[in-house]
Amino acid sequence: MDAESLFAGPFPALRGDRLLLRSLAPSDATALYHQFSDDEVVRYYDLDAFTDPQQGEHLVTLWLQRYEQRIGLRWAICRPEAPQTLLGTCGYNLWIQRSARAVLGFDLDRAHWRQGIMTEALQLVLSFGFDRMELNRVEAVVFRDNAASCGLLTKSGFTREGLLRDYEYLHGRFEDMHMFSLLRRDVST
Ligand SMILES: CC(C)(COP(=O)(O)OP(=O)(O)OC[C@H]1O[C@@H](n2cnc3c(N)ncnc32)[C@H](O)[C@@H]1OP(=O)(O)O)[C@@H](O)C(=O)NCCC(=O)NCCS
Repeated sequence: MDAESLFAGPFPALRGDRLLLRSLAPSDATALYHQFSDDEVVRYYDLDAFTDPQQGEHLVTLWLQRYEQRIGLRWAICRPEAPQTLLGTCGYNLWIQRSARAVLGFDLDRAHWRQGIMTEALQLVLSFGFDRMELNRVEAVVFRDNAASCGLLTKSGFTREGLLRDYEYLHGRFEDMHMFSLLRRDVST
């Protein structure tokens, strides 16, 4: 499917056994503010902890704009029986269509960690990426000490390609980052 036909319809909601992934909406701003004002959630994130509820609104706007600009798709993660209650978000921060490559991002409110939620969400997002977006490569860049993300990506079939030295300047210092990738040929074999 080319980008034109994908973006022609409504935002693509995804349904799994336990989860519903839907479009983000302005009504998610308060939950996002709560999630990102937690120091533990942003510990390995390219954000400082939120201190102003407006930052939740700005984040929703940013992700919706990226979808409108056809350069990103970020889903709201919910349970189907409570579709208004946001558990977290995941999706493609950047889609480089010319190279059939996209950069993965994910986060959950701390109350929902370690219940297999992001494993299921990534299965849905990756299937959509390879089948509907026709991606060849999905990549994720992860702080060196982010054991949860490294474990999640490894469990989801990603390969750790290497360490990017002093790759990001975040929270007042340079940080080494792992580069993970999953290729179309990795999932089709
Ligand atoms: C990373 C994150 C999304 C994981 O989501 P999750 O739903 O808790 O992950 P899952 O329960 O599906 O766990 C999948 C695997 O990840 C690993 N993992 C998850 N949490 C872990 C932790 N706290 N410590 C070590 N490994 C962990 C395990 O290998 C786990 O598999 P297992 O349960 O079979 O052992 C969540 O910890 C989070 O939101 N962190 C803060 C935001 C963040 O850092 N985002 C990533 C930026 S790159």
